[in-house]
Amino acid sequence: MAFVRIRREGPVAVLVLDRPEKLNALSTALERDLALALEAEEVRAAGAVVLAGAGRAFSAGADVHELRDQTPEAIWSYYLESGAVYERVAALPQPTVAAIHGYCLGGGLELALACDLRVADETAVFGFPEVGLGILPSSGGTVRLVAAVGPARAKELLLLRDRFDAREAERIGLVTAVVRAGEVESRAVEMARRLAELPPLAVRVTKAAVDAVPTASREAGLLIERLAYGMLAQTEAHERATAAFDERSGQSRGGG
Ligand code: COA
Repeated sequence: MAFVRIRREGPVAVLVLDRPEKLNALSTALERDLALALEAEEVRAAGAVVLAGAGRAFSAGADVHELRDQTPEAIWSYYLESGAVYERVAALPQPTVAAIHGYCLGGGLELALACDLRVADETAVFGFPEVGLGILPSSGGTVRLVAAVGPARAKELLLLRDRFDAREAERIGLVTAVVRAGEVESRAVEMARRLAELPPLAVRVTKAAVDAVPTASREAGLLIERLAYGMLAQTEAHERATAAFDERSGQSRGGG
């Protein structure tokens, strides 16, 4: 894998986009490497995954040199091949955190949106340059942006905003925390570590249940959470946690 590095930090797999001289522009080669990385044992066995970028950016988006002279057939094939990686990131069973610094544009922002949580440092610069280039985000970006911020704000960001900073991203709910420059990867790893320490099945089922909400009816959503509860309530992790709680409150009753 030339364009993605994997390292483990305890239960967390950190995937670093590694094409710094091109601001981690998402070429098909990088997308293929990212898909391979998702299949690696270090990632499959991880309790949580962090996505970050090497050098001075998270990612400056799709590789603009690859955008020209494409036939309709090639474009369609792209979505089935390397372009499928955005959906694969979104479909990872374990929780994912994007650690964003510097430019996070176009496809880079779409990749960040495919993660469950986003943390940015104060150097982060967000934006969707696509419409200005005569195209639109097409790696799940419009769908996820609408789910994240609602249709009117999504249209504003897609059509009217050139760039926006980390504080603005936090204000509209695109990122959950803003940290000092240079601290974003460690903060993301810390969050991922906390996620990895939670009962894994409860985390995975909750993630899947939340992901189903936007397309489920209210009744289906309620049914999903009740059925999921029925399953999780029978797990050993739940047994252990409630037994530990009973023990603690028994001790405090006894001691008090
Ligand atoms: N695709 C391919 N290469 C890219 C790229 C992209 N999206 N974004 C940056 N690069 C390359 C540049 O061509 C340059 O390569 P070079 O040194 O071989 O010329 C290198 O990365 C550094 O970029 P540079 O433009 O010199 O940095 P900068 O700090 O002056 O500007 C940006 C940074 C992000 C403002 C500018 O690179 C840019 O506008 N990139 C395109 C963003 C974009 O439109 N992305 C969405 C596409 S849908």
